[in-house]
Amino acid sequence: MDVEEIVAYVEKELSGIKEGDDPNPVKVRLLGRKGLFSRLFDNLKDLPPEKRKEIGRRLNLLKAETEKRIDRLQLLFEEEKRKKEEESLKIDKTLPGKVPIVGKKHPITTTFEEIIRIFTSLGFEVTEGPEIELDYYNFEALNIPKDHPARDMQDTFYVKDGVVLRTHTSPVQIRVMESRKPPIRIIAPGAVYRCDLDISHTPMFHQVEGLMVDRNVRFSDLKGVLTLFAREMFGDEVDVRFRPSYFPFTEPSAEMDIRCVICEGKGCRVCKETGWLEILGAGMVHPQVLRNVRYDPEEVSGFAFGMGVERIAMIKFGIDDIRQFYYNDIRFLSQF
Ligand code: PHE
Repeated sequence: MDVEEIVAYVEKELSGIKEGDDPNPVKVRLLGRKGLFSRLFDNLKDLPPEKRKEIGRRLNLLKAETEKRIDRLQLLFEEEKRKKEEESLKIDKTLPGKVPIVGKKHPITTTFEEIIRIFTSLGFEVTEGPEIELDYYNFEALNIPKDHPARDMQDTFYVKDGVVLRTHTSPVQIRVMESRKPPIRIIAPGAVYRCDLDISHTPMFHQVEGLMVDRNVRFSDLKGVLTLFAREMFGDEVDVRFRPSYFPFTEPSAEMDIRCVICEGKGCRVCKETGWLEILGAGMVHPQVLRNVRYDPEEVSGFAFGMGVERIAMIKFGIDDIRQFYYNDIRFLSQF
């Protein structure tokens, strides 16, 4: 057994390991249970006793030295492994973040909010009524007799005899007047239903009703409040006009138009060449309606109005098909 040869062999094995490489295969070959040193120590017993001691001592030194070097290489290897892992997990803080998709308010909601803001700033209080309504509130108490065309089966969804899906928010007028005494200043936003579907009608749409009742409420109050509303909603420069109209529950009745915001009055497809856009119906509360809620028309008077929220939103945002509001197409909705 030539110790010099063994030292050279071990040196060759150890120096073959690059720093940072895995020293384990070499460790197994040299220090393993069936490895080089184990075999060498086994062979010691075949040597004559006088040689055995000296060679044994040198082999022990060599083995200890080998263990030390392998341990060091093992540490370097583990350090390298840890660095590589860290590298692969590294976060680049300069990359743009993932922007979460945040929902937006529906244009009908924002239009509602704007209408409500304007009227509450004038002292109107927000009230609500049921969407499934008694025929009495939807029609009868509003002076709409049994044979009135507004009650036609084609327009009204009947739930059962005497019960309808409200076709307008005007029944809230009756419910409010029945439950309190003047002075009254309320608006009633909400959904209404009519059996109709085309470019300007959906079977469900929204209205905001308004009602003011007190002593000496006059048509000029109606004009003043609604003109102010139009200016807040569509801008200070907007022109308004009141046209005579007819509703069974108001007398006199009117419709309010604003100067077409598309063509500025020159005439276009949207205003049907008239230069004006109708935005609401209104009038002085009919004396019969006041009597129906046990008010005395000699003592109090009032005005009422009702507007279509979709219609206002269409004018405000330049939308030409009301059905767009209800397709829930994200490409449409994300524009607002
Ligand atoms: N209720 C009417 C409609 O649906 C609008 C209106 C309300 C008119 C109040 C006059 C007064 O068209």
